[in-house]
Amino acid sequence: MVLKGSSLWQTFAVVLVLSVFALVQAEDPYRFFNWNVTYGDIYPLGVRQQGILINGEFPGPDLYSVTNDNLIINVYNNLDEPFLLSWNGMQQRRNSYEDGVYGTTCPIPPGKNFTYILQAKDQIGTFYYFPSLAFHKAAGGFGGIRILSRPRIPVPFPDPAGDFTVLIGDWFKTDHKKLQAKLDRGHKLPFPDGILINGHGPNGAFFTVEQGKTYRFRISNVGLQNSLNFRIQGHKMKLVEVEGTHTVQTMYGSFDVHVGQSYSVLVTMDQAAQDFYIVASTRFTDKILTTTATLHYSNSNKAVSGPIPGGPTDQIDWSLNQARSIRTNLTASGPRPNPQGSYHYGLINITRTIKLVSSADQVEGKQRYAVNSVSFIPADTPLKLADYFKIGGVFRVGSISDKPTGQNMYLDTSVMGADFRAFVEIVFENHESIVQSWHIDGYAFWVVGMDGGLWTPDSRKEYNLRDAVSRSTTQVYPRSWTAIYMALDNVGMWNVRTEFWARQYLGQQFYLRVYSPVNSPRDEYPIPKNALLCGRAQGKSTRPL
Ligand SMILES: *[C@@H]1O[C@H](CO)[C@@H](O)[C@H](O)[C@H]1NC(C)=O
Ligand SMILES: *[C@@H]1O[C@H](CO)[C@@H](O)[C@H](O)[C@H]1NC(C)=O
Ligand SMILES: *[C@@H]1O[C@H](CO)[C@@H](O)[C@H](O)[C@H]1NC(C)=O
Ligand SMILES: *[C@@H]1O[C@H](CO)[C@@H](O)[C@H](O)[C@H]1NC(C)=O
Repeated sequence: MVLKGSSLWQTFAVVLVLSVFALVQAEDPYRFFNWNVTYGDIYPLGVRQQGILINGEFPGPDLYSVTNDNLIINVYNNLDEPFLLSWNGMQQRRNSYEDGVYGTTCPIPPGKNFTYILQAKDQIGTFYYFPSLAFHKAAGGFGGIRILSRPRIPVPFPDPAGDFTVLIGDWFKTDHKKLQAKLDRGHKLPFPDGILINGHGPNGAFFTVEQGKTYRFRISNVGLQNSLNFRIQGHKMKLVEVEGTHTVQTMYGSFDVHVGQSYSVLVTMDQAAQDFYIVASTRFTDKILTTTATLHYSNSNKAVSGPIPGGPTDQIDWSLNQARSIRTNLTASGPRPNPQGSYHYGLINITRTIKLVSSADQVEGKQRYAVNSVSFIPADTPLKLADYFKIGGVFRVGSISDKPTGQNMYLDTSVMGADFRAFVEIVFENHESIVQSWHIDGYAFWVVGMDGGLWTPDSRKEYNLRDAVSRSTTQVYPRSWTAIYMALDNVGMWNVRTEFWARQYLGQQFYLRVYSPVNSPRDEYPIPKNALLCGRAQGKSTRPL
């Protein structure tokens, strides 16, 4: 066993962890994180507000790992409210208990801690973590996740001179509890006050580079609702990775990053020795919010100057064409040495088509959001725990239809059943005028097609069945559809949600219960021995049944 980390207590902790969690794979390296979650004053837009800090930092520290590493993350909740972290894009294979969303994991009570035991199993790439409960995401608590390739697995580009996490997102000056109370009263989320880059408002963030060298920027949109365009004055960006897939390396002058999405680009510092603007601005909004950071050449002799470069003026078509241009490099390696194109997803027969239509409406005079007419409401016990302990009456498999029903919107604890090893086609249809963004926990899926109008079986003729990108968050343009293929190879209870955080909070989500009748750790790990128990699972035992 390889030990990453040096101090004695870590060695002790490994022994402890191994004895407590016998099922983690002992041959893969361990990385230990102690995270203290607290409130603290932050001033991202110049006014004081209460932020959620991790080890005193806003945004939180990077979660840094290599494919297959075991990550032991002890999270101490020093807020005055229950808290959970979730891992956007990290798949938690066979292990939805560690997913850190309402339906899988009991909240960490104030003043208590919980140790997540994750594995970066068979993954590479750029993701982020975030607080999943209440409206905590509006106060921070997020940070970058990077999973590097193992040393002997080829990466399809030379090692960059530096590797930056760039967290962009819309931001409100209003306290997260006030925003939450507004939603609870049945109102919509207002327009944001600004855009942040790594927790800073205009001209706050600073990236120092050396002239002539090439750097990787890992860009994630950790905001609450707005699609953002990202660009760097005077420089082109070469796209190399999208949520764990090495892409065909294409140059872009600017790039749309929808809420919840992550991209890696390479940028060569091939300009004169001066400083340049890094820009993020809202897309598809009447009023455009813009923020800047500074790209500082270490030998710079001139501050940032000239007009801030504008974003694309064309609306949907530009963005749709850009999305379609993102493709998998079939000959490049992914997390394993074999080429990414060796799994021919386009030749596999679909066993089921699921069609999901999102909607916005009022229920009992309050704003709600739904999928196939069902607006999700939590039950008293996490769904995964109810499932494991066979506690009846918490949820009903089939409480959401896999086709739109045309019913009026209603509230339920919606869970869709699905068979382990099925190969499904999911069609997201967006009848509204916003750009939607959908995320599925536990999985990456192939984005095989997107287009305007309504989806019909004929739409399959325009699918990309060869080199579509595999990722975990996809946009759906206004009055348009997006189709994905997904191999249900990960047993568990998985959150399917919009990344529009107010919509998610007000019901636009459900759980996909991927079920195997075989009760074997080969398909799914048993409940972790340190799992917190809450609701009607309180007092149960996490020892093997
Ligand atoms: C977390 O931070 C708070 C505030 O700084 C401190 O009181 C507390 O002792 C810390 N807890 C741990 C476990 O480090
Ligand atoms: C809380 O932290 C301690 C170590 O400080 C650890 O032994 C314990 O398992 C953690 N609690 C949970 C529920 O993970
Ligand atoms: C795809 O990956 C291969 C293998 O690493 C690399 O040689 C090639 O340049 C890449 N092609 C494109 C278009 O990105
Ligand atoms: C898919 O279905 C077709 C027609 O039913 C069948 O001939 C083919 O063998 C199937 N392919 C696979 C990979 O199962």
